[in-house]
Amino acid sequence: MTTTPVIAIDGPAASGKSSTAAAVARALGAFHLDSGALYRGLTRVALDHDLGAAEAIIQRAETRGLGLVRVGDEIIPFLDGEPAEPLIRSPEVTAAVFRIAAMEPLRDWVNRRLRREASGTRWLVLDGRDIGTAVFPDAPVKIFLTATPLARAKRRLVQRDGAALAPELAAEAAALAARDAADASRAVAPLRQATDAIVIDTTELTFGQQVDAILAVARKALSNKQIPPTL
Ligand code: DC
Repeated sequence: MTTTPVIAIDGPAASGKSSTAAAVARALGAFHLDSGALYRGLTRVALDHDLGAAEAIIQRAETRGLGLVRVGDEIIPFLDGEPAEPLIRSPEVTAAVFRIAAMEPLRDWVNRRLRREASGTRWLVLDGRDIGTAVFPDAPVKIFLTATPLARAKRRLVQRDGAALAPELAAEAAALAARDAADASRAVAPLRQATDAIVIDTTELTFGQQVDAILAVARKALSNKQIPPTL
């Protein structure tokens, strides 16, 4: 039996998944892929051309060359021959992406690309919402990263504005809780913890502690499953 070379990191919005996953991948010599970036790329295309139907969005995304490109240790989306960042991080995209992520043909389109990236020999640290439940249910390491909405809102505001003031903090925490609810209540591949995932609550952890906790879980899981950590 061959091992799927994937470390799945799922969890709610702004739980620090992506930056943590990138650091974990660097420490392991693996690739890092943020699957949400592909949903954001599709959303960018839908907004640019005012498209609502999945087939039309896919067609236009392919015409514009939306796809994954390996850049160093990162696998990132390109659009129109350039990195899709920072276009895919706009508030407009953030507000609309949950609708795109709820459409089954678009999820299938994303998942085909994720699976293609995992068919190589190098390990992949993949973060998202449904990696351990739907995309790679046989991943040998599954982590569910979480933190309270307030802790996540605080981190997000400090990162963006350098401070987290009370009125913005409450509004940001409410917005994050609403995004989690939208992701968790959709019919297709909703955000939820895989039954065999290890939960890491990062509310009280520093970034470094978060990375170390994941590395420890990953190494232990691989050694318990007697998978050589060719990482
Ligand atoms: O992690 P993020 O905020 O960039 O994710 C953007 C959106 O994509 C969010 O609504 C959740 C969704 N998503 C998903 O449904 N499945 C994934 N594997 C990754 C992201």
